[in-house]
Amino acid sequence: AKDAGHAHPAGAAAPDPGPDAGPALAEKFTTALPLPPVLSPVSTDGGADTYAVTMLRSYARVLPGRRTEVLTYNGAFPGPVIRARSGRPVVVRQTNLLDDPVSVHLHGSAVPVDSDGGPMNLLGAGATRTYTYPNDQPHASLWFHDHAHHLESEHVYRGLAGTYLLTDATEASLPLPAGRYDLPIALRDARFDTAGNLVYRMDDAEGRATVLANGRPWPKVDVAARRYRIRLLNSSNLRFFSLRLADGGPITQIGSDGGLLERPHTTDTVDLSPGERADVVIDFSRYRPGTSVVLTNSMPPGPAEHIGQVLRFDVGRPAPDPSSVPDRLRTLPPLGPVARERTIVLKVEEGGAGVAPLGLIDGRQYDPARVDAAVAFGTSEIWTVHNANTDIPHNFHLHLVQFRVLQRNGAPPGPEEGGLKDTVRLMPGESVRLQATFDSYRGRYPYHCHLLDHSAMGMMAQMEIA
Ligand code: C2O
Ligand code: CU
Repeated sequence: AKDAGHAHPAGAAAPDPGPDAGPALAEKFTTALPLPPVLSPVSTDGGADTYAVTMLRSYARVLPGRRTEVLTYNGAFPGPVIRARSGRPVVVRQTNLLDDPVSVHLHGSAVPVDSDGGPMNLLGAGATRTYTYPNDQPHASLWFHDHAHHLESEHVYRGLAGTYLLTDATEASLPLPAGRYDLPIALRDARFDTAGNLVYRMDDAEGRATVLANGRPWPKVDVAARRYRIRLLNSSNLRFFSLRLADGGPITQIGSDGGLLERPHTTDTVDLSPGERADVVIDFSRYRPGTSVVLTNSMPPGPAEHIGQVLRFDVGRPAPDPSSVPDRLRTLPPLGPVARERTIVLKVEEGGAGVAPLGLIDGRQYDPARVDAAVAFGTSEIWTVHNANTDIPHNFHLHLVQFRVLQRNGAPPGPEEGGLKDTVRLMPGESVRLQATFDSYRGRYPYHCHLLDHSAMGMMAQMEIA
């Protein structure tokens, strides 16, 4: 797995592997969308659910007639689902059978620092360790992924990402679509060679022209003519999605990164930057059985005939539908008084010919020995985050907290950003003001751009809550 890309993130010297062969090899809308396996605990003793996960190299049938080597949790591509409930801890015993060190981060969680899976908290090749997740937070659609510094980008690209669905009494009491009508769908892009191997190059946004949904290119999703809850995750390294139904039909967004919105919001477009989640309800009963409707993406880069389509819903017969979307979904905790304000500037600095670009936060690359933000435990802060690049999008992810977006470019955010968030998009030149309260755990936690190729270039910093 070691290649020049690790030491020199630009990977500038690697020979050109040719254009992405994925679109030519895949047949659109023929393969059924797979659902990731749900893990079963190995023990439910001691008031916690304990899982055993092994990270290993495996093969997946991604493209017809080809096998693709992938890095997996328990052999699953995409990674498995862990289901958890607020107030009941989950313990995950992770064994690393890969050749590289890894670090498992539960994205969106509030966990003690030794279980956070930070960039330097490594689990070496051959080693086993235990991560403990207290689940002392409300329901949310979380995900877990590799975070080993400089390796996270390639590791996640090759498959080290899974889903973690945390529920609670508030969510469970609502009549939302559930069971087989509740579909987790992870979206990402990829680049393949003609043999079906994943091609990884740093910062290769333009080279990745294959869209994968739950690890398959352009799948079809057979749905009954009724309501579905769909939990969308953008697990791409770099790609942003701007999703719509091809007929412009309504999509009801009910949740975001940190769980349900206060009220549902009906829209025709859902935007997702890498790491973000959107929980939506689509009512397929408005289509006649036999109708197909494509989920489209309008966000470049890439040829529109490839990246412009994501998957296709094939609507079958009506099915009984006791579900509904209430007008009121939850009540968010009030925002407390602000102890301190900070400004954060994100920038990629191009290195020039043959020199790797630098990922910078406030003008500096990540240094695990440095504390960039000293936060007083128990206080609430406003951070104004600015994308100083005029042609490169970024986003911003804080570990440990779910924050609130107060403003986007000086105006109140849209309803889709009105709930709890842990990752927020920053298109070129944009600024976002957010408020976070640091009252769960003390210690050093990272914050970074979640375009993983950028964080691998150093666009990451560290806060210490004390
Ligand atoms: Cu999803 Cu620090 O990561
Ligand atoms: Cu970035």
